[in-house]
Amino acid sequence: MVVLVTGAGGQLGQALRFISGNYPVIDFIFCSSSELDITDSVNCDLVFEKYQPKFCINTAAYTAVDKAESEPEKAHLINVVGARNIAEACKKNNTTLLHISTDFVFDGEITTPYLESDIPNPTSVYGQTKLDGEKVIQAVWEKHFIIRTSWLYSQFGNNFMKTMLRLASDRDMLSIVDDQIGTPTNAVDLAEALVGMITFCDAEPVGGVQCGIYNFSNEGQCSWFDFAKKIFEVNNIAIILNPISTSSYPTAAKRPKYSVLDKTKIKNTFGLNIKKWEEALHPFPSAE
Ligand SMILES: NC(=O)c1ccc[n+]([C@@H]2O[C@H](COP(=O)([O-])OP(=O)(O)OC[C@H]3O[C@@H](n4cnc5c(N)ncnc54)[C@H](OP(=O)(O)O)[C@@H]3O)[C@@H](O)[C@H]2O)c1
Repeated sequence: MVVLVTGAGGQLGQALRFISGNYPVIDFIFCSSSELDITDSVNCDLVFEKYQPKFCINTAAYTAVDKAESEPEKAHLINVVGARNIAEACKKNNTTLLHISTDFVFDGEITTPYLESDIPNPTSVYGQTKLDGEKVIQAVWEKHFIIRTSWLYSQFGNNFMKTMLRLASDRDMLSIVDDQIGTPTNAVDLAEALVGMITFCDAEPVGGVQCGIYNFSNEGQCSWFDFAKKIFEVNNIAIILNPISTSSYPTAAKRPKYSVLDKTKIKNTFGLNIKKWEEALHPFPSAE
């Protein structure tokens, strides 16, 4: 079974490569942006024709949340046009698409975990382009899973955990936002869940699993302040942490105050066991 992974040089792409050796029955094809530019439909068609993947995991995305506010065209090109190109290539090759989306499609104006059926209302250009990407996939190709996730971190790529550890190496005190609530997600746990979904679908009769939107994050919830505190605790780093409000840390993009995702649907459909975020966090650089 061939599984094509786009955006292979990114955080989730690297996490998928990290676990791929545990699945010898799957022939993973990892394509970085230089091998497969999702904004180039001809390039997409050629790669799909060459490998004829049964599944495609589209991790490729424009992910610079704040920068997107000043370059919306680029974010749209990658997150919307790119998503459409991938969906069209999947359709031509009867490939099932697993596309990664985000908690930032929501405005965060509720206080209970978001269901897949809740109405999105992005507060940022990034969130809007990710939502528009979901919509083009839904319009183009029915055999899709859109997996919304949140607060990805791992030993790979750029993420909050690595930023905290880097800052701690030359500072005694850090101020961290404590009024945005969400769930950190170990990218390796997400990678395992994606491969679990593929394995499950492959064993099911055609039409056995309902396509559509699924939430995945680790379990539980915390603020960025709580997450930072736990990162330093797990890594035995002594540092003073100062909780601050979002208003004292202005950013170009507005982020949701609350973006915890309800995982009932993905757990019931695919029989996944999901770790609590505290258990999923390990000393750096171990990703397991
Ligand atoms: N990180 C988070 O906290 C988070 C939270 C929720 C959802 N997500 C979603 O999860 C997915 C994976 O995120 P991530 O953390 O792995 O992001 P990432 O580390 O930024 O990786 C994204 C990858 O996409 C590639 N890419 C950009 N433009 C491309 C193009 N035109 N064609 C092909 N590849 C292209 C990048 O390659 P280059 O570096 O070569 O440009 C990069 O390797 C994304 O869909 C993201 O929206 C992330």
